[in-house]
Amino acid sequence: MAKPFFHRLGLDPVYVTFEDILPDPSTADRIRERAVYKGLIHKLPQFLNVNGHVNKTIREQVESRLHPMRPQAWAGRLAAGDFQELLDAFLDFKADFRRNLEACEAYALINCCAALIAQILFVDNCFKEGLEEVSHPENQETIIRLAHYIRDHYAVSQVPIREDDARFYATYFVVQTVFDKIFVGDEDIVSYDPETGQVYLTDNYDFYTAYLEVANSKLVTASDIEKTLCYELTTGWGDGIDAATWNALNRDYYSRSEDNFFSADYDEHLDKMLPQFPYGRARAAGDIIGAWDGVQPFNLIEIGAGSGAFAVDLFMALKMQGKDRTRLSYRGLEPSEEMKEVYRQNFLNRTGRSPLADWQIDTAGLEEFLEDYNRYLLNDVTNVIVFSYAAHHCYRPSLHRLIEDPAIQEQVEKIYILDATLEHGWTKVYYMPLDCRSPEDFRNITLTGDWHSQTLWHEPFKPLEHYAVSRAWCALRQLTPPKKA
Ligand SMILES: C[S@@+](CC[C@H](N)C(=O)[O-])C[C@H]1O[C@@H](n2cnc3c(N)ncnc32)[C@H](O)[C@@H]1O
Repeated sequence: MAKPFFHRLGLDPVYVTFEDILPDPSTADRIRERAVYKGLIHKLPQFLNVNGHVNKTIREQVESRLHPMRPQAWAGRLAAGDFQELLDAFLDFKADFRRNLEACEAYALINCCAALIAQILFVDNCFKEGLEEVSHPENQETIIRLAHYIRDHYAVSQVPIREDDARFYATYFVVQTVFDKIFVGDEDIVSYDPETGQVYLTDNYDFYTAYLEVANSKLVTASDIEKTLCYELTTGWGDGIDAATWNALNRDYYSRSEDNFFSADYDEHLDKMLPQFPYGRARAAGDIIGAWDGVQPFNLIEIGAGSGAFAVDLFMALKMQGKDRTRLSYRGLEPSEEMKEVYRQNFLNRTGRSPLADWQIDTAGLEEFLEDYNRYLLNDVTNVIVFSYAAHHCYRPSLHRLIEDPAIQEQVEKIYILDATLEHGWTKVYYMPLDCRSPEDFRNITLTGDWHSQTLWHEPFKPLEHYAVSRAWCALRQLTPPKKA
């Protein structure tokens, strides 16, 4: 049998204190910054309990179904029948919620269930992969203290919780924090020189992305039921959804409001945990600018521009390659006002200047683009559309409309899709269990239609001779319209 993943890393035991997870005002700044789960722990009682008595019944249903799996998970003993039970439970919840509740409410609960099940899978997998050996023995004390805290906190919120479920949540947060202490570096894994636009990676990049092996090994070893379960949690739960609900869920996911389940801290943490994400984006911007002759007027439209991170990389790539930016126009479309709001600041932080006056991001999504694409596509220029980590968030039928539209095929030179690889869509429950509550459809990433598709690269790249499976997480694809291919 292969040595478990955490044993192969040969690490010293990692100690997680109570303050590492729930800091107090006297805790050191660096520890406080890292404590990204504190908000979540406080919001746990509201989880599945958003609408008073209606969802109280639901919470009881969900908890009673998931409860027997938790002790199995923390012993790393989930077996084939358990995965089947988790899959059946999830499919039942999905059908029941959709039958009995208003669409947005139903999907909010489906999201919660997906996250709860992903926590169970993550804990089980970490134990199967030998995490116990690198978890310091005193972490048991932290688990006990945290379990008490969670139980007391639930009592104050008047939400009942079983003793061993509190213990499971405490175990989950400790396991997750051990994992993060190993893989989320304190150093800048990706850094930029604002003067030249050059991007640098630390020598430890390979180590920080090593956890992807845990997820990727599942491509080879997981049973079909387990694969279906993971696929359902991250992708398949979106089937049968209408565009308005899908887009509303996306807006909620990206909102900065107090009641959002995730904190801004967690988002920043995620960017550090996925250094392949910012690095892939800078690499894609460099390649897209590199493929342009710098002379022919070039119009780049980014759909799902978020807070403008790709626009920044584009600006840096132009600088780095010494290309005339007056010959390139950029227009972003972003449906979330809150994401868009930080564009200016983001640009300023990374480049030392405000965004170029005509590099705007409109409050609009793919659907608005489809309704009025002549507003964005220009005549007598090279029109290119880019999705930077946004295609998996888009409503799938809208993407179909995009690639099937003959006028778009006529006017657009290329579509670039930078995104996670399809397999990483569903294996993400093994490294980002909390992120299973976003409306995502990883099938979108491979959408091709009649267009000619070429994968230009994937990142990180690990030669196959050293690893049974590659760690490829994100890939840049180039789509060329049928008549131009
Ligand atoms: C992971 S973020 C990527 C942001 C940015 N492009 C980047 O590279 O960092 C995905 C973005 O897709 C946006 N999005 C969600 N639904 C969309 C839709 N229907 N049309 C366009 N963008 C959408 C989200 O609001 C979010 O800002």
